[in-house]
Amino acid sequence: MGLGTVVVTGAAGNIGSVVRGALRGEVERLVLLDRVPLRAEAANEEVHTVDLRDADAVETALTGADAVLHLGGLPDEAPLAHLLDVNVLGTHHVLEAARRAAVPRVVLAGSNRVTGFYPTAHRTGPGEPVRPDGLYGVSKAAVEALGRLYADKFGVSVICLRIGSFEEAPTEPRHLATWLSPRDAVGFCRAALAAPLSTRFATVYAVSANTRRFWELPAESELAYTPLDDAEAHAPHLADTDSGSSPEAPQGGPYALPEFTLKHLRP
Ligand SMILES: NC(=O)c1ccc[n+]([C@@H]2O[C@H](COP(=O)([O-])OP(=O)(O)OC[C@H]3O[C@@H](n4cnc5c(N)ncnc54)[C@H](O)[C@@H]3O)[C@@H](O)[C@H]2O)c1
Repeated sequence: MGLGTVVVTGAAGNIGSVVRGALRGEVERLVLLDRVPLRAEAANEEVHTVDLRDADAVETALTGADAVLHLGGLPDEAPLAHLLDVNVLGTHHVLEAARRAAVPRVVLAGSNRVTGFYPTAHRTGPGEPVRPDGLYGVSKAAVEALGRLYADKFGVSVICLRIGSFEEAPTEPRHLATWLSPRDAVGFCRAALAAPLSTRFATVYAVSANTRRFWELPAESELAYTPLDDAEAHAPHLADTDSGSSPEAPQGGPYALPEFTLKHLRP
């Protein structure tokens, strides 16, 4: 796909591991970052143990890169101070490193949880106001805002992927709407890395072509990837379908419940 050096943060994680395996044969050099140690598995792989909170280490690792896929961070509800530290400041360090080292393209891992309070009957598009379903969603809204700032102010080309539920296969009824298959995750990441630099900024939902999805898929002009999988094929294997749930129920499902956030707040 003509990509030279690609940096992947959070390369030891669920999505990072899958994308790493797929991109390895397609890019000139793959620079893999995580706070946990990694081992190079191919001649074109380079690994760095880096904490995203260490701005200097992030900048050193990004220097000379053509694109960054920023997947590293806390992927779920946590005390806000931790989320701000790792997700928000960590993303700031990545964007700052991209600005300072002139890395032209940054792909950010956003989340569907920035809009988890829209009702399931509503087809949500990326242009609508955020309605985070928790503190994690708030941190991802800030991640997107940082991306927009760096695109508008400093000309870094930033694409935010609002990732759905990344799973090998759907395991619960909500996934019939929210599933992101491994194959489609790779497709979205690859397309975002390879998109023309004339795309200054875009936010898109990265979700499989699920019949019951409640998010808009990106237009061809925003991102040249059409997802291939549909969670519906797995519906017969799920114990209970969500046909009985209210159309007013929040898209975030259990994540939108007060209890989910209350465990990270003072009693
Ligand atoms: N998995 C999903 O369904 C999903 C959905 C929406 C968004 N996302 C986002 O996609 C990204 C990847 O998700 P995932 O499921 O692979 O998560 P994951 O937890 O499996 O991977 C995240 C990686 O980030 C690393 N990391 C955490 N803190 C770090 C720090 N301070 N410095 C350096 N590395 C650090 C972890 O070691 C881990 O390897 C995350 O940003 C997550 O918020 C994931």
